[in-house]
Amino acid sequence: MDAPLEQLRAEAIAAIAAAADEAAVEQARIKYLGQQGALTALSKGMKDVSKEDKPRIGKLLNDVRAAVTAALDERKAALQAGADKAAFAGVDVTLPGTSSGFAGKGTLHPITQLLDRTIAIFRRMGFALADGPDIETEWHCFDALNTPADHPARNEQDTFYLPDGRLLRTHTSTVQIRTMEKAAPPIRIIAPGAAYRRDEIDATHLAQFTQMEGLYVDEGVSVADLKGTLEFFFRELFGGDAKFRFRPHFFPFTEPSYEVDIKTTALGAADRWLEIAGCGIVDPAVFESINGKRGDRAYDPEKYTGFAFGFGLDRLAMIMSDTPDIRYFTNNDQRFLAQF
Ligand code: PHE
Repeated sequence: MDAPLEQLRAEAIAAIAAAADEAAVEQARIKYLGQQGALTALSKGMKDVSKEDKPRIGKLLNDVRAAVTAALDERKAALQAGADKAAFAGVDVTLPGTSSGFAGKGTLHPITQLLDRTIAIFRRMGFALADGPDIETEWHCFDALNTPADHPARNEQDTFYLPDGRLLRTHTSTVQIRTMEKAAPPIRIIAPGAAYRRDEIDATHLAQFTQMEGLYVDEGVSVADLKGTLEFFFRELFGGDAKFRFRPHFFPFTEPSYEVDIKTTALGAADRWLEIAGCGIVDPAVFESINGKRGDRAYDPEKYTGFAFGFGLDRLAMIMSDTPDIRYFTNNDQRFLAQF
């Protein structure tokens, strides 16, 4: 039986090597190893083999089966590798993939970028982050801020009122009140957040915008501290050559009050004053309304003074990026946003 087995091994291995595709390999497997296959047929002859020859022929049968199986596996793997190679022919798999514009990498919104820079600069001066609700009571938005009932800011044409009498805050100065209700001086906070006004929406107005509030209360806080703080902040933001003008103004909750104008080559308007913030020394009447609410004298105006400021981040971002229309910041147009 040795000779037919050796012959089968040689024939099978040659046939497998010549198989042109995976189907041909499978046909060879059926032909040689299948239930009706050549090896099965030959192994039926085992019963006629003499007792002495049985172990040797048995081993030979196993060897041939193993060799043919190995040849089949090898040929199949070789054919698959060849197919992969053909599929990637001419493709440099080390090149970066192509992206459909929609899956492109995003960037932070320009207002968010400005907000992050602003927070970082004030943090270095020891200002902590504070916040308060967008939906406010009239007391936090107006009364506590020394804004009388007949003040035009309280007109329902200017503000969004809820049926229960609360309103969407018209400025972040509400967070001054929220903070002082909870904590005694010294206080040094900034409070970024949304503010709302019933403005007609146009190139310079939105019904919702973003403000940055600041409040510092301690013993001996003066206008000099206010000027130093704001000038440091805006110089950090715009660069060293900025010039400032603190123009007397009126806010119900600060006395004296100022509007801050800036002139700097960084804003491409070296010969033009741009209005960028409102500020002033906290009016003692504000401290007294806090004391009344707290039921103590924590904000004794004889002992403490403070300064407060507020500016619009959208307006600042517009000036800094020379954006002609504030609505670009809310339209969500990639052609605009991708520039930041
Ligand atoms: N809240 C004022 C505004 O919205 C800005 C401001 C804040 C002025 C703090 C003085 C002090 O216009």
